Amino acid sequence: MNEHESEKLGGILENMGYIEAENTESADVIVFNTCCIRENAEQRAEGNIGALKKLKKSNKNKIIAVGGCMTQQKGRAELLKKKFPFIDIIFGTHNLADFESLLKRKLETGKSFIEISSDEYSMKECNYVSRKMFPSALVNVMYGCNNFCSYCIVPYVRGRERSRTPENVVNEVKSLVEKGFKEITLLGQNVDSYGKDLTPSIDFADLLKMVNGIDGKFRIRFMSNHPKDVNEKLCNTIKECDKVCNSVHFPIQSGSSKVLKDMNRRYLGIDSMNKIEMMRSIIPNVYVTTDIMVGFPGETEEDFNETLEFTKKARFNGAFTFVYSPRKGTKAAEMPNQVDENVKKERIIKLVDLQNSINLEHSLNAVGKQVTVLFESFNEKDGLLSGRDEGGKVINVYHNKNLIGEFKNVKITKANGITLYGEII
Ligand code: 5AD
Ligand code: SF4
Repeated sequence: MNEHESEKLGGILENMGYIEAENTESADVIVFNTCCIRENAEQRAEGNIGALKKLKKSNKNKIIAVGGCMTQQKGRAELLKKKFPFIDIIFGTHNLADFESLLKRKLETGKSFIEISSDEYSMKECNYVSRKMFPSALVNVMYGCNNFCSYCIVPYVRGRERSRTPENVVNEVKSLVEKGFKEITLLGQNVDSYGKDLTPSIDFADLLKMVNGIDGKFRIRFMSNHPKDVNEKLCNTIKECDKVCNSVHFPIQSGSSKVLKDMNRRYLGIDSMNKIEMMRSIIPNVYVTTDIMVGFPGETEEDFNETLEFTKKARFNGAFTFVYSPRKGTKAAEMPNQVDENVKKERIIKLVDLQNSINLEHSLNAVGKQVTVLFESFNEKDGLLSGRDEGGKVINVYHNKNLIGEFKNVKITKANGITLYGEII
């Protein structure tokens, strides 16, 4: 979501006639698109902004803008301005599409300002996108989240769920496919909520069918799903739609039902295990990836062991693992029994070790298999092409030609650790 918004900011700037600078020294405008999902994201943003103090001092005309989730938090923009008075423009998540007029205002008046909109419904669609991921493209299907998981800042900084109309989504995908993009990732904080706010009502599986009906050879991916909402209709749709990848990002967060209840996830450990089994029984060779968090308030050793057991049993094809980070304004930040930082560290190491061993097993099992790879990058010097199979697994192939944007059948011949190599057949 954040990367796509950076592509939008880039698109707005390109449309104004700006070109990408080689470095911060030579840039006329520097825009930070921040994230606040965990504290370290905010610390990194602050570190990078602070590092520009000298540069700004030596060139007062350089414009520094800061936007995104971090600035959208209540009172955060003012604090940021106090700490870094040299920032010229502070804007939020809902007025990103207005960046052209914000930049013009700065250029015309010379005055610094904070402009944060608190009304998510006033958010405009952004007409310019500087795509950076060819042959892949990101497409929003909805914005915001209504789930209020107790640890999560997203509903506070992105507002309530708003779905784009199916016509808008389909038209954007059509025009991307016409331009030669070969992989479309449909984005939503919780794609399963798609369409609940539209009339006539439509659900995400219906949208997938519509996008699948667009002519052309391309792949469809989507993220993220919510374990409480994944259902048989979605699984059957994934199975039936030839362009939809057999891959589901299914963030379980924890294996402990007690922790899940406190997280306000509205499912039990057994529910998400049953859904994984359902996905595996309906969708042939499905890849299931996940997000898991350790150290949520009140997570005991027993709860954490349930997460380890779950992970062992689920054999995810990949997992993003996180240490719980208290976010101001969320319920969990006020909960008693916050877990000691050292305990959190021990737990994340154990979890990462376990998932690494599962990843390794998956890689070793993949040797000998045939997959369809969409090539994404080519290193001319050593002739190494890299691409992904349907599940999103990276496959490397030595080849004498740049095949970026092409689909090829590849036989996986070797696993070097988790890194896979193959040959085009
Ligand atoms: N601390 C740690 N991880 C978090 N995530 C969301 N909020 C927090 C938090 N406060 C994780 C969840 C989510 C992923 C995008 O980020 O696992 O699925
Ligand atoms: Fe955050 Fe939960 Fe919404 Fe995901 S579903 S964005 S974790 S509140």
